[in-house]
Amino acid sequence: MGNFIVAITGGSGMLYAKELSKKILQNNHNLKMVISDAAKKVLKVEESLILTGDIKNDKKFLLEWIDYDKNKQFDLIDHKDVSANIASGSYKHDGMVIVPCSGGTLGRIANGISLGLIERAAHVCFKERRKLILVHRETPISLIDIENMRKVTEAGAVFMPASPGFYHKPSSIDDLITFVVDRILDHLFQNHKSNKRWHGLNNFCDEGEKENV
Ligand SMILES: Cc1cc2nc3c(=O)[nH]c(=O)nc-3n(C[C@H](O)[C@H](O)[C@H](O)COP(=O)(O)O)c2cc1C
Repeated sequence: MGNFIVAITGGSGMLYAKELSKKILQNNHNLKMVISDAAKKVLKVEESLILTGDIKNDKKFLLEWIDYDKNKQFDLIDHKDVSANIASGSYKHDGMVIVPCSGGTLGRIANGISLGLIERAAHVCFKERRKLILVHRETPISLIDIENMRKVTEAGAVFMPASPGFYHKPSSIDDLITFVVDRILDHLFQNHKSNKRWHGLNNFCDEGEKENV
């Protein structure tokens, strides 16, 4: 059983965070979630999800949103609580994903500015050489963002724009979300089974069908 952190910041694309969290929980891993103030605003706009700041209530709302009922695997941590376990390198985990990652959070992490728990936990990933995945959402991209992308990549993060491909012929928003979440899980889990993988022209198939190609 793994131990993963999902930080949600104020970029667009809350459905990516929802799907990723669900996949982590469904695979019987533990999930620690941290949500920035801006992310709460975007959650309200995109998902009509209103978080009040009361951790116990918000945890309940989030589990309903994720559509998962085993609350023992799920922890919600206040983004201002820099005394939380994930703020320390001595607390072990298997990886952190910031999804969506705003340009603001990217900039703070790239430049070592730990204003809250999300940046602090990301810096801990760098210093402890742990997996850190930033799923950035912005377009177009400024030179400042590009410099920050370079810095976090050189520091050891996997920088992953929320940019779904179309070669799998998506027919719904769910297909586009799944594409991006699959790529995140390929980097997060050791043996992630994807619904769709490319094996060359005419050989695009489910993981389980690979042997038959
Ligand atoms: C509805 C909405 C959508 C937004 N989308 C993005 C986005 O896609 N990318 C981004 O970098 N910022 C976006 N922002 C702006 C960020 O939320 C804002 O810069 C915020 O300060 C980021 O704070 P955080 O990094 O602490 O979460 C959006 C804001 C709102 C209200």
